[in-house]
Amino acid sequence: MATELLELEIGPVAHGGICVARHEGQVVFVRHALPGERVRARVTDRRKGFLRADAVEILLPSPDRVIPPCPFAGPGACGGCDWQHASWPAQRRLKSQVLREQLTRLGGVSDISDLLVVPDLSELVEALPGGPLSWRTRVQYAVDAEGRAGFHRHRSSGIVPVDRCRIAHPAIQALPVLDRTWPPGATIEAVVSSSGDTAAVTRASRTGRVTSPAAPVREHAAGHEWTLDPGAFWQVHPHAVEAFTTTVLDMLRPVERERAWDLYGGAGVFAAALAPHCGPVTVVESDHRAVASGRRALRDLRNVTFVRGDVAQVLSNPSWRTVDVVVLDPPRSGAGRAVVSSIASRGPRAVAYVACDPAAFARDVRTFGEHGYGLTALRAFDSFPMTQHFETIGLLTPR
Ligand SMILES: C[S@@+](CC[C@H](N)C(=O)[O-])C[C@H]1O[C@@H](n2cnc3c(N)ncnc32)[C@H](O)[C@@H]1O
Repeated sequence: MATELLELEIGPVAHGGICVARHEGQVVFVRHALPGERVRARVTDRRKGFLRADAVEILLPSPDRVIPPCPFAGPGACGGCDWQHASWPAQRRLKSQVLREQLTRLGGVSDISDLLVVPDLSELVEALPGGPLSWRTRVQYAVDAEGRAGFHRHRSSGIVPVDRCRIAHPAIQALPVLDRTWPPGATIEAVVSSSGDTAAVTRASRTGRVTSPAAPVREHAAGHEWTLDPGAFWQVHPHAVEAFTTTVLDMLRPVERERAWDLYGGAGVFAAALAPHCGPVTVVESDHRAVASGRRALRDLRNVTFVRGDVAQVLSNPSWRTVDVVVLDPPRSGAGRAVVSSIASRGPRAVAYVACDPAAFARDVRTFGEHGYGLTALRAFDSFPMTQHFETIGLLTPR
């Protein structure tokens, strides 16, 4: 296909690290651009009803545009970051717009101005300490046909070898991953924990089987120490656990004897924060490694119980009758209609929803709304600077 270049006026930001433009009546989703810019963009994908394009020449730049700190960011290069070309405050404004748009369009929540703890809607997504670089404590590298480690191009199986990843934590940048070769097709998961332990786990190309395992790492939070398999889930930003647990506690305000559920609980960080303030806390989590680690780490908290299983299945058991406060932290796909309905049917006093995808969050907020629960507090954190991702925490209470 011949390279097709379009001159575009860039419109608003949309979910997915893109901006929206129009060309001859057709919608174009443009990467590497910013709202208000005029750009020349190369068409990368032609679909029924819309085009995708990469801005390759900026004809009229936005005042928010900066030179990307990473030389591997940009059209056709590493697909890991979406907003390296925007100043950090601008990245948060863009994410704030995305959250508002998703809540309005998918969540049916038109006015969130009463819910804000920040002075302005444009600052809805708050910064975490530490700046936009050197924060990422978990990094997955892919290996190209010549054995060099790097990252996938956006929406591609192609791999871009890099000298280092600028958003990775310095201890990850220091690991001997990028200065040697690996079996082609392998993946390498590099981890640095809150206690400074590092690990690099290699997986084989097709099977995903671990070919070189690594010792567990120690994580610290809420006065506890977890010993975790390096592949098990832990929040990626070094300040995320503190920010999220404090926010959830502040929203739920559990009191003595109240029953709590920590759904999609991982190794139980929210349970650890809730347990000193309330009655029995039940963690539901499907990953056996996280459950084993959580049971060991929280064995001194007599009111915490782990249940290993699928949240939807566990909640379909009618003997799970009463609960006062719920925290749920599902994967990107969200909790979904069945789980939201199950939670609401138990009539909890308060639900704190921790969301890594604003669209899934908004859809679930709408479902909570159908069950009489409204959004009564909202915070969001830029726990993934330079990328399109961020975390939202919403409080849902009976109307
Ligand atoms: C976003 S993580 C949150 C973990 C934990 N709350 C934390 O902050 O460390 C989502 C967790 O849900 C688990 N999970 C995914 N699908 C699940 C399901 N259907 N039922 C139970 N757990 C699930 C994953 O294994 C993962 O640990």
